[in-house]
Amino acid sequence: MSRTQPEQPTRTRVAPSASKLQHARPGVVSRDAANVADILLRLPPTERRNAFKHHLTARERAVVMTEVERATGSLYGLWRDSPSGFVEDVLGESLWSKQRAVLDAIVDHKRVAVPAGFGVGKTHLAARAAVWFTNVYPVGTALCITTATRFRQVQRQLWPHIRKVVPRAGLPGYCDTVQYKMPDPYGNDFVAAYGFSAPANDEAAMQGIHMPHLLLIVDEAGGIAPMIGHGTNNLLTGGHAAMLAIGNPAMDDPASWFEELCIEGDDPSEPTTVTIPISSLDSPAITGELAPYCTDCPEGVARHSLADHMPDQDWVDRTIRSYGEEHPYVIAKVYARFPKGGGGIASRRAGSRPPCPTRTPPATVGTASATSAWRTRRPSTPSAKVPGSGSVSTLPPMVGMNSPCTALSVTRWSSGTLPPALPTTTRCPSPRSSLRRFTPRSASPMP
Ligand SMILES: Nc1ncnc2c1ncn2[C@@H]1O[C@H](COP(=O)(O)OP(=O)(O)OP(=O)(O)O)[C@@H](O)[C@H]1O
Ligand SMILES: [Mg+2]
Repeated sequence: MSRTQPEQPTRTRVAPSASKLQHARPGVVSRDAANVADILLRLPPTERRNAFKHHLTARERAVVMTEVERATGSLYGLWRDSPSGFVEDVLGESLWSKQRAVLDAIVDHKRVAVPAGFGVGKTHLAARAAVWFTNVYPVGTALCITTATRFRQVQRQLWPHIRKVVPRAGLPGYCDTVQYKMPDPYGNDFVAAYGFSAPANDEAAMQGIHMPHLLLIVDEAGGIAPMIGHGTNNLLTGGHAAMLAIGNPAMDDPASWFEELCIEGDDPSEPTTVTIPISSLDSPAITGELAPYCTDCPEGVARHSLADHMPDQDWVDRTIRSYGEEHPYVIAKVYARFPKGGGGIASRRAGSRPPCPTRTPPATVGTASATSAWRTRRPSTPSAKVPGSGSVSTLPPMVGMNSPCTALSVTRWSSGTLPPALPTTTRCPSPRSSLRRFTPRSASPMP
């Protein structure tokens, strides 16, 4: 598979950071900028992002964002209906197609269920969803709660992403271990996001939390106890509340809450719930999807495609060789389906579980058909189970522990040959001083 990509800096941002904008002179406004903000807010997300990026100068963007803040109560209100746009334009980070699809589904659905294979970037995208949600509404009106099967997964897997992203993008507020605090208009710290985990039988764990805008993120959702899972409904009572439940399907739980939710999301009579499965075979390292450069690794790491962090064909082959194609581990962790309890998502969609056939490299990489029409290659050697691997109890206990620096061999790209990939954003920082050029005005024309 080959990817071609023009040279460009690795982490690029379209929107200036909040810290760059905070020195604006109070009271300086512009009728033109307000009109532009008004027009942008009325555009569909793709056109809005395009216009913001290509039709405004870097200095104008700063002023327009200030006007958007007047109109929406949030500096990043332009990205309220475009989580993937927020990640790319504001955080200056890259995503692959399924991550984009999952993030954007949160805007239109109350429940987004994502059964996914190992290492496809679930926790990475869940953390970005939290940062997006807390920044696109007025401080004090939006709350994001994150949970997972174990507190270790909350604290050591999801929150390190949030703690890294917030300062790196110059977003307002600061994080401690599992809290994101933002300054509210009264000078207090408002906890805009926090993480917790609940004991399996704690009926009250999911009660009593209500906000005008609420996002609940359930990472490692495959292991969530039924009482806690069903309790999530207590938080989604009405108004604007949404949930992203994301994780590996459980291998041996015939009726997990997560499986129920995924089946519901596949049911056309439940339009507020959607299921977006991500098989490991959808990984850009396998399909050949044109993935952008990784923007998450620290400065100094040689440039590489984000596909290098994703499961590759070798991992799939080895896993299938070790366990056998029909093993629950392979069904759950590679194909992202539920091995028991009704057959799971894919069998409902396709009528029966698709076989694990031969992978043919897609003729046209990066297209929808190339990405969706996946087929796996049979293991190059005959399927041979590792002694003892047939038992679920012998399977590796560690899930969700991926780190960019362990996933990627730094020396791999040191030869000077860079993996080509697609760019997503361009950086155009706007100095706040440009505000002075605009004429004063008293009121915003926003609806
Ligand atoms: N868009 C991205 N850009 C750069 N790196 C990414 C991106 N998405 C994921 N990664 C990296 O890929 C690795 C795997 O991501 P992550 O831990 O989110 O996967 P996961 O699906 O949660 O894994 P698990 O199934 O083990 O829980 C991590 O090192 C993560 O930082
Ligand atoms: Mg994870």
